[in-house]
This record gives sequence, C-alpha cells and structure tokens, in this order.
Amino acid sequence: MVKKAELHVHLEGTTTPALVRKMAARNGTTLDPAIFKSDGEFAWTDFWDFLKCYDKAAATILTKDDYRLVTYDYLARCAREDAIYVEMFSSPDHAAEVGMSYADHLEGITAGIDDARAEYGIEGRIIVTCVRHFGASRALKVAQQFVAAPHPYVVGFGMGGDEAQFNPEDFAPAFNLVRDAGYQTTTHAGEFGGPVSIRASLDNLPVSRLGHGVRAIEDTTLLEEIVDRRIPLELCPGSNIATGLYDSREQHPFKALMDAGCVVTLNSDDPPFFATSIGQEYDCAARIYGLTEEELKNITRNALHSGFCDDALKEELLAKI
Ligand code: ADE
Ligand code: ZN
Repeated sequence: MVKKAELHVHLEGTTTPALVRKMAARNGTTLDPAIFKSDGEFAWTDFWDFLKCYDKAAATILTKDDYRLVTYDYLARCAREDAIYVEMFSSPDHAAEVGMSYADHLEGITAGIDDARAEYGIEGRIIVTCVRHFGASRALKVAQQFVAAPHPYVVGFGMGGDEAQFNPEDFAPAFNLVRDAGYQTTTHAGEFGGPVSIRASLDNLPVSRLGHGVRAIEDTTLLEEIVDRRIPLELCPGSNIATGLYDSREQHPFKALMDAGCVVTLNSDDPPFFATSIGQEYDCAARIYGLTEEELKNITRNALHSGFCDDALKEELLAKI
C-alpha cells in the first residue's frame, strides 16, 4: 500500500457523528438534533450551512481529554489507511468558544498525537489556525498566543473560514507576527473565492502554501506563477465536490493542475462531513485520474517536502515511502 501524508485537515472537522454523540453523552451536553440527517450523518445544505454545522459539532469538544480523543481517533483512522504523517489544523477560537484555554487545547492534541504514535507509529504536527469570518482582531489574538507560547508540535500558522469575509491584507498583522517569529504559514484561498482571492493572499500574506488554491486553474498567469514559485497546493477534491464547487471528480481540475506542473498534495479537509478520507482521496486519484503507484508516492513526497515540520522528521518519513 502507498504511504500517505496529509497537510490539510481541520481537527475539529474530523469528529465523526459517533464521536460527537459520545462526547456529548460523557459531558452531559444537549446536542442539536438538526446537525444529523436521518441516516445519522452530518446534515448541511451548502458551504455556509456546513460551517454552521461544523461549529455545532466542534462545540461538543469540551475538555482537554476530548481533544486527545478526537486527535487519537483521527490519526488511528489515518494510520489504518497507511498514512504516516498528518499536519492538522487546530482552532484555538473553537476551543475558546467552549471556555478552553490555548494551553489546554494544545495539551489535549499533543496527548492524542503521542498516543497515536505509540500505538500506530503515525506522526502528527499542528498548524494553529485563525478563522477568517471571526475577523482580524481575533486572528491577531490567536497569532499572539501562538508566538507567546512556542510548542514543539506546533509547526505553522494558517487561516480557514469564509473567504468572502474581509480581505487577506486585514490579516497581515497576524501572519507577519508569526512569520517574524520564524514560522511558515498557509491560508485557504481559491476555494469559494476564485483566483482573485489567491492573488490577494499571495500579495498580502507571507504564505508558503495555499489551502485549496484549486481555482488557480481559472487564471493562466496566476497558475504560471504558482508553478514557477513552486507554491504547494493543498488540494481537497472530495471536499470540493461535497461542497458543490465541482460536479464530479472527473470535472475536478486536480489532474490539470498536476499536469501544469503544480506541486500538488491530496487532502481530506473535513472527512466525515464530506464522506471522504485520506485513503479515499488517494484511491480516487488512482482510479479516476489514472495515477500510477509512483505518482501517488510522489504526492506523498510533495506533502512531506512541503510540510512545516523539521528536516530530520521529513527525512525519517521520506525514507518510509
Ligand atoms: N473550515 C473547515 N473546513 C473549511 C473549508 N473547507 N473551507 C474553509 N474553512 C473551513
Ligand atoms: Zn480546509
């Protein structure tokens, strides 16, 4: 089996309906039944409704041990699909919404990474993210917490959320603070925002990767720049189809971006919400885009080379491919 590596997955978005129910039961919290469909899967209608459902599911992660469990559970699922490395987005804002401190949030995730490594040998690292639609001042606060409390597993900074809200330049103070402290960054751009959003992100934020970036395919000049600068794309085909950006995997520009010379990676984004997994993303790339085993391995190599973890860990993981 091809070894896999993932760079774009939202930890709070990895919780399965079963895990959400389990945490709600053990914490004695009441769940909004509207977040589930009759078949038990998450219920949402479009991208913006997904973000609301995601927030409600994330609000069931109440304690440090919940974060440990969510992290462990996700990494265990990945390891069973032959993933060797996962760089996961964590959201201190979502933790703060339920009254959890930045330190407890990270301690819980760290314990989950350690438990998964001990049992499965899989490695994990954290990218602390801000949420674009929560605004620039909250983003700056997350960045300030980030630089004030360096953590060995926290390797970078990122931004998710609704690209239609605010402008990338509004978040430059947060991103520059983190960059000046010596860290690499990534931002969601070119998902629902189109090529203009990618352009604005590259012009205003010190990012070394793009979350999605898929809609660079719509602008030849931008695409050429992304290829020339070797800016890795965190592509999430299953997510893009689930949220209605493309009608099918056949219509998704993954292969076109790869053939254009982009540094492409495969990612699951919010797997239980989008009925996908890192394993399924690789399987579909083989089946639908006709990728050979060596091409799939190169995608894993792309992910490891583009990771924000240290070089020693990269070398160790690259040797496993
Ligand atoms: N937060 C969680 N999933 C996201 C996505 N696909 N796009 C933007 N923000 C997100
Ligand atoms: Zn995402």
